Amino acid sequence: MNNINKNALIGDLNGAFGVSIDKYDVSRAGVRDDIPRLKQLFDQHHVLVFKNQNLSEKQQIEFTKLWGSLENFPEADKTKDSVTTYHVANVSAAGDHLSENHTQSVFQKVNQLWHTDSSYRFIPSFASLLYAIEVLPNHALGGETEFVDMFSVYKNLSDEKKAAVESLHMVHYYEYGRRIFPQLPAINSFERENVPPVSHPLVRVHQNRKGSRSLFFTENAGGEVSGMDHSSGKSLHAELVAAVSGSHYKLKHRWSKGDLVMWDNRCLVHRAVPYDMNNYRRVLRRTTVAGKEPVRGPFSS
Ligand code: OGA
Ligand code: MN
Repeated sequence: MNNINKNALIGDLNGAFGVSIDKYDVSRAGVRDDIPRLKQLFDQHHVLVFKNQNLSEKQQIEFTKLWGSLENFPEADKTKDSVTTYHVANVSAAGDHLSENHTQSVFQKVNQLWHTDSSYRFIPSFASLLYAIEVLPNHALGGETEFVDMFSVYKNLSDEKKAAVESLHMVHYYEYGRRIFPQLPAINSFERENVPPVSHPLVRVHQNRKGSRSLFFTENAGGEVSGMDHSSGKSLHAELVAAVSGSHYKLKHRWSKGDLVMWDNRCLVHRAVPYDMNNYRRVLRRTTVAGKEPVRGPFSS
């Protein structure tokens, strides 16, 4: 039996946002006509946690495509079977545990800073889906994924701060990861031309949600806010990072094998919680649903 309305168990995760969905096999979502109900849940809760899945890469891709077009990753070397699958792992494709200084592990450290996926694109992604293949044992510290609701972060800024950020933008660029971790190999000119720097408003206006506003910025695709002098831009950026880190509207997901977590990149940021990469293996598989429109700000028509 597989029916989102009749059989699935849907439960709050922490009261703020996010729902867990149990007793539902996402590999059969295309067979049943459940997508409208899932879309409703997604719009309302921003994070869906599907427990106890058993998904091949192909099945994950099929489920992802029910939500929109698959997004490509800008770098071929992150992928295994296809450019649309990102292996979020400190383990090689052949199954070898990699040290924390291995390039593939260092890529995971870029994910330990607050971000929303592919903010470096002119049209950033709509949603990401991350599936757990190998997880940390219960006693190990870290390894969770944390999410913060950016509607709430915006709402809780002081009126003064809201006025200050109203017309500002941030430049997001893929290569910023290399600024943080210069030991990563340089991207090639083809990759560079595919993901040039883009500017997005700091205040994102959601037309599909009656014009409600969220803060839109990242810590791993840039380190300053534009339109002001360099040191003011850096300190405003740091203030926003602190507002996100200190937010009460946070969801921390501790992974179990077989979890599929899907989140809304339009209104959340997320990060991986650091863990001891040399001692523990962690293998997740990500697919991404491409966005449909650029980020609109208070002054976009
Ligand atoms: C990602 C990501 C977080 C994690 O795959 O986009 O940010 O916990 N992952 O690995
Ligand atoms: Mn991410």
